[in-house]
Amino acid sequence: MKTALFLAFTFLLFGSSIASDESDPVLDISGQALQTGVDYYVLPVVRGRGGGLTLDSADNETLCPLFVVQEQLEVDTGLPLYFSPVNVEQGVVRESTDLNVIFNASTICIQGTLWSLVYDESLEKFVVAAGGAAGNPGRGTLNNWFKIEKLDDDYKFIFCPTVCDTCRPVCGDLGVIIVNGIRRLALTDDPLKVMFRRA
Ligand SMILES: *[C@@H]1O[C@H](CO)[C@@H](O)[C@H](O)[C@H]1NC(C)=O
Ligand SMILES: *[C@@H]1O[C@H](CO)[C@@H](O)[C@H](O)[C@H]1NC(C)=O
Repeated sequence: MKTALFLAFTFLLFGSSIASDESDPVLDISGQALQTGVDYYVLPVVRGRGGGLTLDSADNETLCPLFVVQEQLEVDTGLPLYFSPVNVEQGVVRESTDLNVIFNASTICIQGTLWSLVYDESLEKFVVAAGGAAGNPGRGTLNNWFKIEKLDDDYKFIFCPTVCDTCRPVCGDLGVIIVNGIRRLALTDDPLKVMFRRA
């Protein structure tokens, strides 16, 4: 009897610690959990308003630096990207956890292909640029950490990093703003609803 009680008690403790520590895995369009270090396309859920996420310069006259933008055409999937969670042991990409998001592509620009939030003075908005190095969670890399959250039956990206206890980052949803005809990923009140397809 004592043993049975003890077992039940440890099960309760163990079970509840799992429930509180681990959020749900993010699922791709075939219902499989997203894996870390595996390439996916990020595609829009709403039809007729642009395609997958890719890299492009901010206008048609410069080549660099690069920003995260949405393809103009719905049929274009954009570039494959992969996720590297703050807890590299994870293996599975989970909702609401800090992630580096990295396009698996080579560019002529020197900045690299990691998502990083930057403030654009002329737009007076935070936009997602390419740049920085993966890993090293903390104050110095605060702008490189994004999260995926559930939005109805699909997902959205948010910026609200928790890799630094004493930092007070701006927090918000990532959506699309159109500047010079380019569909740029930025902090907005209108999140881009996305789904993930294995590349
Ligand atoms: C990046 O792409 C290359 C070439 O397609 C592939 O071999 C490699 O596994 C990819 N790396 C990651 C981390 O997805
Ligand atoms: C670049 O885009 C602007 C505005 O969209 C346009 O007026 C201009 O002609 C374009 N320049 C080139 C070189 O295509």
